[in-house]
Amino acid sequence: MTSKDPFVKINNVTKSFKGLVALDNVSFCVEKAEILGVIGPNGAGKTTLFNLISGFSTPDTGSILFEGKNLTSLKPHQISKLGIARTFQIVKPMKNLNVLENVMMGPLAHSCSLKEAETKAQNILELLGIPDKSLFLSENLSLPEKKRLEVARALATCPKVLLLDEVMAGLRPNEVDRMVSILKEINKQTGLTILLIEHAMRAVMACCHRIVVLNYGKKIAEDTPKEIAKHPEVIRSYLGQDPC
Ligand SMILES: Nc1ncnc2c1ncn2[C@@H]1O[C@H](COP(=O)(O)OP(=O)(O)O)[C@@H](O)[C@H]1O
Ligand SMILES: [Mg+2]
Repeated sequence: MTSKDPFVKINNVTKSFKGLVALDNVSFCVEKAEILGVIGPNGAGKTTLFNLISGFSTPDTGSILFEGKNLTSLKPHQISKLGIARTFQIVKPMKNLNVLENVMMGPLAHSCSLKEAETKAQNILELLGIPDKSLFLSENLSLPEKKRLEVARALATCPKVLLLDEVMAGLRPNEVDRMVSILKEINKQTGLTILLIEHAMRAVMACCHRIVVLNYGKKIAEDTPKEIAKHPEVIRSYLGQDPC
């Protein structure tokens, strides 16, 4: 990586599914230590974008660069090793493991000892407010708890970039506020770069330094939360009259 390379660069990316253009020539950059919101109506292409960044899918054209390295032909485990972690909109815990064991998988994959992995996992569960659930089977958690477990599992891999796909959906307002303050605190303390797909506009506005807006696969805006909230096309296509 040279000093001129953006931390993450999405470069003219297009992805179609049987003629449906899910992402249409999308480009933007993410700076190191930035919290970038990705918003837009259902079907706008947000999850597809995360699938491409994390290697679960490949772009038809264009490229994705991380620290100057082209990710386009890499597999998910190689991208994870480079330091990009993601959550899934449909939560995917390992059902037969308990919560603690689920979170320990990340540190263990990065060759921590069992004891180190356990301590790290416990600290992360504490941070996310579910330490008392550590011995529960993950399938017995409520949906909001499963969402927090997704974040914990991703954080436990010690990523440089964290991709969060609707992790606040289904949370109560006070739980959303708590998640926002956790993410802001982690970002402030560690400089973790976060890409956040979220419909809860209160959270997006409170958390993000900048926001990219997608609509029918096209990027229609990229700006600060304040500017996005009054952007005519964003209001027309997504926010309606009440952005917060
Ligand atoms: N694997 C797939 N096969 C076919 N169509 C898909 C696939 N993944 C996404 N799509 C379609 O691409 C569009 C964008 O989907 P998605 O990225 O999931 O949107 P969002 O996350 O913004 O709601 C939608 O029309 C969706 O149906
Ligand atoms: Mg989605």
